[in-house]
Amino acid sequence: MEALGSKSPVLLALLSISLLHATTVARDIGVNYGTVADNLPPPAQVAQFVKTKTSINKIKIFDANPDIIQAFANSSIPMTIMVPNEIIPNMVQLPAAQEWVKTHVTPFVPQTNITRLLVGNEILHWGPQAAIDNLVAAMRTVYQALQQAGHKNIQVSTPNPLDILDKTDYPSAGKFRPGWDKNILYPMLQFLSETKAPFVVNTYPYFDTNAQNVDFCTFKPNQGKIDPVTKMNYQNQFDWVMDAIFSAMKALGPFSNVELVVGETGWPAVGEPSQTWVNVDIARYYNSKLIEHVNSGNGTPLMPGRKFETYIFALFTENLKPGPVAERNFGLFKPDFTPVYDIGIMKNASVVQVINDSFCLFRILKKNFNKL
Ligand SMILES: *[C@@H]1O[C@H](CO)[C@@H](O)[C@H](O)[C@H]1NC(C)=O
Ligand SMILES: *[C@@H]1O[C@H](CO)[C@@H](O)[C@H](O)[C@H]1NC(C)=O
Ligand SMILES: *[C@@H]1O[C@H](CO)[C@@H](O)[C@H](O)[C@H]1NC(C)=O
Ligand SMILES: *[C@@H]1O[C@H](CO)[C@@H](O)[C@H](O)[C@H]1NC(C)=O
Repeated sequence: MEALGSKSPVLLALLSISLLHATTVARDIGVNYGTVADNLPPPAQVAQFVKTKTSINKIKIFDANPDIIQAFANSSIPMTIMVPNEIIPNMVQLPAAQEWVKTHVTPFVPQTNITRLLVGNEILHWGPQAAIDNLVAAMRTVYQALQQAGHKNIQVSTPNPLDILDKTDYPSAGKFRPGWDKNILYPMLQFLSETKAPFVVNTYPYFDTNAQNVDFCTFKPNQGKIDPVTKMNYQNQFDWVMDAIFSAMKALGPFSNVELVVGETGWPAVGEPSQTWVNVDIARYYNSKLIEHVNSGNGTPLMPGRKFETYIFALFTENLKPGPVAERNFGLFKPDFTPVYDIGIMKNASVVQVINDSFCLFRILKKNFNKL
């Protein structure tokens, strides 16, 4: 034991290296806080949990629930809020947009760090036609209302479903659906480019998965897939789709300055018995690799060096979501805050881990030192 004293500098060095490692690998982790459930804890508890127990550092919600917005006050966590689909046609009238901003945004800033306002959710998928026809005009009017109210730094965008892509066989052939391309997506991208806001897409490799392509869809090692034109080898479905979107944007105009943000992606932890690619381990693997990938700065074959701000769906399992069982099981946490699985975002766990790792290393070193 007396050897310990003389070796304590080694322990200190190890500890500081490990702690340095722990702090420098800080990653961006966005999560969608959905609320289609009747058993979720009150927003104030949720905000407290997110802030103190997890390393989630970006939150997106599907409405402008004042209780939720209020709950994230006094934190630096940037928050994305949403104008509901039903009122989009009204939002083209400036007075209506001003009223909405006055009620749903102004009372909460700057205490809550609202950084982005999304106009509707997947309007091009869900419609109705009146919302589709008025989408870009509504985005412009809401932006104008925010500017006039002095909220100069709140971006305006809308989350797009993958339906925006025409049937695309490989990434370099990516094109937007005819009709939407020139009439909706072109003016939308023009607006986003002018106002320095991102193009937001929701992409779920999960929905493209079958028994044959599980590894490709979940970031597991695999042979990859070749784009026949660029000859680039893709290692995962996420990059395959992101590059199809990139190609579609490029085909439409000079929009390389518009950032791409992933508004939703995720993997269910429970599915139908026939879905052999759905379980807790695969969900953990997909979401862990996703976070690593989008933060790595590796980008994609056509977008090397880029990072993608990404929001996992979802914070909680949501018991009232309709559809197959998987729909109710995308959550990272149960309503009682216990993790469905851990993707390394629990604050305490990682600190315990780092200290434990350091002591293990130290013990190994000490054993060897004592042999000398
Ligand atoms: C976990 O972290 C919270 C907030 O940082 C702290 O208050 C609490 O004491 C920690 N718990 C443990 C067991 O380390
Ligand atoms: C934010 O800070 C104000 C002023 O200190 C306080 O009244 C309010 O309760 C805080 N809200 C939250 C959610 O922390
Ligand atoms: C709000 O979030 C943005 C984006 O992460 C950040 O740059 C900014 O510092 C935050 N604001 C506050 C007041 O914490
Ligand atoms: C600490 O490390 C040991 C050896 O690797 C492992 O068995 C143990 O579960 C770890 N404990 C914690 C709390 O991580």
